[in-house]
Amino acid sequence: MTEDKVTITLNGKTTECPVLIGTENEHAINIDKLREDTGFVTLDFGYKNTGATTSKITFLDGELGILRYRGYDIADLAENSNFVEVAYSLLYGELPTAAQLADFNQKLKDNSDVPAEVAAILKAMPKGTHPMAQLSAVTIALSGVYKDGAKLTEENYINMLAKFPVLVAMVIRNSQGLDFVANDKNLDYVANFLQMAFGKPASNVLVDAMDKLLILHADHEQNCSTSTVRMVGSSNANIYASITGGISALWGPLHGGANQAVLEQLEAIEKDGGDTAKFVAMAKDKNSGFRLMGFGHRVYKNFDPRAKIIKKSCDEVLKDLGVVDKKLTIAMELEQAALNDDYFVSRKLYPNVDFYSGIIYQAIGFPTDTFTTLFALGRLPGWVSQWKEMKENKEPIGRPRQIYLGAPLRSYVAVSER
Ligand code: ACO
Repeated sequence: MTEDKVTITLNGKTTECPVLIGTENEHAINIDKLREDTGFVTLDFGYKNTGATTSKITFLDGELGILRYRGYDIADLAENSNFVEVAYSLLYGELPTAAQLADFNQKLKDNSDVPAEVAAILKAMPKGTHPMAQLSAVTIALSGVYKDGAKLTEENYINMLAKFPVLVAMVIRNSQGLDFVANDKNLDYVANFLQMAFGKPASNVLVDAMDKLLILHADHEQNCSTSTVRMVGSSNANIYASITGGISALWGPLHGGANQAVLEQLEAIEKDGGDTAKFVAMAKDKNSGFRLMGFGHRVYKNFDPRAKIIKKSCDEVLKDLGVVDKKLTIAMELEQAALNDDYFVSRKLYPNVDFYSGIIYQAIGFPTDTFTTLFALGRLPGWVSQWKEMKENKEPIGRPRQIYLGAPLRSYVAVSER
């Protein structure tokens, strides 16, 4: 907080709003007292310009294309760290020592078994249920077994982080009608997840590629799903309910579901003959209802730093696997067409994290409709850390205001005799 204040006078009533300046010089006006002092509330559809919290977890500058977890640049982490280490630092604020990392890994292994009655839910769900719905169901079911989920205990967040890769792998198997694969506690987090998903040991190249993708998705400050996790948790709902809320929010194609939507769109373009210009024209036509999936972002207005890293990784993985994918060529053509088109340039629309990730997921062998569960697996440390921070900050229940535009008071008129 600084000494600076913004004075706002409305209808003759005045309020003084403190100015808050963040670590990286972001400026905010605290309007806590605005309604009390003046009777006004602020209105901001989609919270485009509203800070709902202060946080020490992730810094993002959309104009400059910067993303840092706990002060570490995303490119530095993707190149040099690993997902479990990143999860630790998101959760506890600092990178672990070697001993802390070993202890954390051990705790994740020790708590990774999923209760049989939770796994059985998957088998009982209707065939064809979307993997994100399956993941929601088994995540909320954990609250039936671990009843103290609302408490801020290490047991709760370790439990969530430890079981989630096992749940995601089970969902991926179940959606293909395949049996579950045993949880192997001799393997590390990502290698075990891949083995459970595919029923065979994963190569180092795949483990590294997956690890990198998970790091890139691990947190993204107050996005739609993370805000949902914090909002649900703010009512003192347990961690399993809060994370389930995040899974639901992530599912939508305007958020994490975009990775599935991008691949389906690339496949449709390929099937249609690969004429990218036609689809770029459609995306520009407001009456078409068509959007270029994987393009645009609420906060990145220059480039998405994650997309740059993923594009490079995509080239490497396809090369390593010997996969020649026409969809990669189509994606690159779309990117070039959009980057040179005034419609996209003037609206600052660039490829986002999901534009290339689906091509890698498909090359690894994941079915398209399971892609968003992989995003959830990556985002989990962020959700858990933000839930933890929200509780540590003792934040009040989330409850926005509205401006009512409906009918004024009117009298009830009976339409039939009682
Ligand atoms: N294709 C074509 N036009 C687009 C696209 C797109 N992908 N995205 C935005 N626009 C246009 C809008 O029509 C609008 O045009 P207008 O000003 O002439 O009306 C303008 O760009 C601004 O778009 P908004 O929807 O207002 O921007 P907002 O910040 O609300 O939405 C969003 C961001 C949802 C990501 C949007 O760009 C989009 O729908 N992208 C495609 C879906 C996608 O890839 N989502 C994943 C995001 S990353 C993530 O969540 C992990």
